[in-house]
Amino acid sequence: MDQLTDYGNFGLEDLDDCVVDDTPNGRFEVSRRMFEDPELFELEMEHIFGKTWVYLGHESQVANPHDYQTSRIGQQPVLITRDGEGKIHAFLNSCPHRGSELVGDRRGNKKSMMCPFHGWVFGSDGKCQDVNSADTGAYPDQFVNQNHDLLALARVEVYGGFIFGSLNPDVDDLKTHLGGASKIIDMLADQSEQGMELLKGGIRYTSRANWKLQLENIDGYHFFPTHLSYIGLIQRRMDQGGDDDVQAIDARQMEEAAGGNYDFGNGHMMDWAYMPNGGDRPLGFQRDKIEQKFGEPMSRWMIDHVRNLMLYPNVLLMDQSSSTVRMVHPISVDKTLVEVYCIAPRGEPAEARQRRIRQFEDFLGPAGLATPDDQELFEKCQRGLKGQKGGWLQGYARGMERLSDGADKAASEVDIRPVVSGGDINDETLIHGSYRQWLQLMRDGLAS
Ligand code: FES
Ligand SMILES: [Fe+2]
Repeated sequence: MDQLTDYGNFGLEDLDDCVVDDTPNGRFEVSRRMFEDPELFELEMEHIFGKTWVYLGHESQVANPHDYQTSRIGQQPVLITRDGEGKIHAFLNSCPHRGSELVGDRRGNKKSMMCPFHGWVFGSDGKCQDVNSADTGAYPDQFVNQNHDLLALARVEVYGGFIFGSLNPDVDDLKTHLGGASKIIDMLADQSEQGMELLKGGIRYTSRANWKLQLENIDGYHFFPTHLSYIGLIQRRMDQGGDDDVQAIDARQMEEAAGGNYDFGNGHMMDWAYMPNGGDRPLGFQRDKIEQKFGEPMSRWMIDHVRNLMLYPNVLLMDQSSSTVRMVHPISVDKTLVEVYCIAPRGEPAEARQRRIRQFEDFLGPAGLATPDDQELFEKCQRGLKGQKGGWLQGYARGMERLSDGADKAASEVDIRPVVSGGDINDETLIHGSYRQWLQLMRDGLAS
């Protein structure tokens, strides 16, 4: 029996207990079991993280020859490298000898990497250079003829500087997989002709909650109740004349601002809102240049719209207060590792860079005024979700009455091509796409 798929009795029919996708009849429901069932978690690792494209890191993390950066695909350790010729690779970060993690530190630069256990050596191209044994006569032919290189992921592709990998050789090419979401990535990636860079000082924290709750974090509906203290602080700063070095987004105006949400298919989704004080955002310092290059309305989309993009299943690209790449690594059914970086246009003016870092610390850092609120709430959810008698969750209905196929007026302005448009940043329909993709991947996996 295939040990990877022998998790018990979970079958195709059990998916009906997980997600109900029946929007024509006003039903889109997600069960508590989705966040609580360890068997389901193992199946997700196999059929979701093992089958689709997964975000691994940004090119700037391996900017120079022989740079390396560790990452993950679900629970599996991954190593990204740039070889001496400048080519990007991704391998399992596991020595073929006895399986030790090859690189323990998060990033560095090494022409050759030596396994700490028995000293096998690998090049930055993954090739085994030495098995640390002078006694070559000790090995059977079978071993001598065996490939000892690091195991390369089946697929690695880069879009807009963002590196993705897949354990599945049969995935569509990355651009096809991203679909309409690629246009939103462009709005970030095109902010500098020199490309974007992840700033030093990435943040890691562990959330005692299921990984899917992290993906829901772009929902606008929670913003006011969850972040009341942050909004109060913005109000106080404004009352004092607004003369601080953060110049936060004026979130008080968020409820009245134009906005919406888009489903790009394959689980990718985003929401957006117009922000009246776009000039206070870091890219606002380069308005003339951006406007000249991209024209109106694209510069408005890049500077004056906050955009929260979630690329299924594991990365949030958020261009809002500052600009952030947030990776989601499932550890177990109720534990998730989150990795957050501030992303910035290379060569941006010094005042813009300073503003970007201040906004990042203010809103998104572990000591920021928003992230701890969100994480506290996810952990509260994880505890509350144990109340299995509570039945189906009721959290995915808002906005179902105002969905439309294809692009709405705002998307058409700049040729954004969603599969479905939603009318408001606060609508819960935003989240449907990710659970629809969950269902699709799990169905495909369980049927095969
Ligand atoms: S486990 Fe790597 S050399 Fe032995
Ligand atoms: Fe939040």
